[in-house]
Amino acid sequence: MPVLAIDAGTTGVTALVVDEQGAVRARGYREFAQLFPRPGWVEHEPDDIWTATVAACREALAAGDEQPTCVGITDQRETAVVWDRRTLQAPRPAIVWQDRRTTAICDRLRADGVEERVAALTGLRLDPYFTGTKFAWLAEHEPRLWTGVRDGALALGTVDSYVIARLTGGAAHVTDATNASRTLLFDLEKGAWSDELCDLFDVPPSALPEVVPSSGVVGTTDPDAFLGLSLPIAGIAGDQQAALFGQACFSPGMSKCTYGTGSFVLTNTGSDIVRSDAGLLTTVAWDLGDELVYALEGAIFVTGAAVQWLRDGLGLIDSAAEIEGLARTVPDSGDVVFVPALTGMGAPHWDPHARGALLGLTRGTTRAHIARATLEAIAFEVRDVVDVMVDEAGLPVPELSADGGASANDLLLQLQADQLGVPVRRPQVTETTALGAAFLAGLGTGVWSSTDELARTWALDRRFEPAAGARDDGRHDRWRAALPRAGGWTA
Ligand code: G3P
Repeated sequence: MPVLAIDAGTTGVTALVVDEQGAVRARGYREFAQLFPRPGWVEHEPDDIWTATVAACREALAAGDEQPTCVGITDQRETAVVWDRRTLQAPRPAIVWQDRRTTAICDRLRADGVEERVAALTGLRLDPYFTGTKFAWLAEHEPRLWTGVRDGALALGTVDSYVIARLTGGAAHVTDATNASRTLLFDLEKGAWSDELCDLFDVPPSALPEVVPSSGVVGTTDPDAFLGLSLPIAGIAGDQQAALFGQACFSPGMSKCTYGTGSFVLTNTGSDIVRSDAGLLTTVAWDLGDELVYALEGAIFVTGAAVQWLRDGLGLIDSAAEIEGLARTVPDSGDVVFVPALTGMGAPHWDPHARGALLGLTRGTTRAHIARATLEAIAFEVRDVVDVMVDEAGLPVPELSADGGASANDLLLQLQADQLGVPVRRPQVTETTALGAAFLAGLGTGVWSSTDELARTWALDRRFEPAAGARDDGRHDRWRAALPRAGGWTA
């Protein structure tokens, strides 16, 4: 009884066929276009996401030997999508989580003194990252579109809702609490949309999806829309929460870091809502139908994207995988420090005006030093978040489970263990985001009967032990000194 998992990520869609042992039996992947219409703006064509979804699933299903029995969906979170309820076509591109265009709206709301109230209700902060600010921008700048939203012709949602609408031929307009908890429109304690917040961001509640549990059947794929298949859709979660689930971090205190476009550290806090004043977010980890489980999150915007930039922006490497070999040709970064704030800074520093900075260059600097400084930067960014979790929120992080594309990089995970001063462990399956979606769907349809059973499928690939003294060798101090140089760059 295999499960089909769809991971509609930021740069592409992955489809996995996962068997009852939690092993990946088949895989499909399609990239889609990233649109940068202006500096700081990032958009996706929703139709491109859908086309990539179908193509990735077709590839995975063709490679698998058994037909899946249900589908789980996970997605890039916070991205704002608008579509026509009847035709399912999008009248404009999606505004992506990385997009910074709503900085002025956030500054204005902050000046109005609402930040504290927004944070208390949502566990989040006023930052362009979050969906509500993007909807507010559309309401302000595209009034004709917003009339369509108000009169019910157009639906609003995040990528999960949009993909499910397409999968079901328009029959379902749903999201789950993990995705809803990233919108700035969701009351974290009540587990429901907040009228007060909808009012603040000018969002008609009737345009929002129904919030359903993360596990359990919520609809059926329409064979005319989706590869001739009629499958129950039984799992939904935002990608970082899905990765926490896929890493089997089911007990309070367990932490994972997913190294993707950005990197996201989440610690399960059980039924406790743990709040942070030092730059972490409180979020829903999952809703299995009985009670909400929460997590504390450090969201770092640019990590793997910095490696992509070395490849696509600078032409320093031909493929992302090359960075490890190149970085290993030098013993250190030669005092080069890279602050990869290419789309502003997220946790724990939060500065939408920050931009990237490359410091300490000399005539002796080579591309290998820049490659090494990039890997070090990722390890420093994650350390800054984990340090806040431990020191401010009082959540011990005795070890970190790593996953995502860049977790294949042994040098990065060793640098990470050195910087954290605790072991970093990598599972055999590192596509834990999609795995988590498969787990949620399989749990909702009886493929697995409990989280204990799922935990037994987790298998270790390698454990990286911290080198003695490496945490305090001064490199992190230089990184901290470099951060203000990247801050407050744009007006
Ligand atoms: O919050 C944004 C996050 O969900 C995106 O993750 O893996 O698509 O970069 P990823």
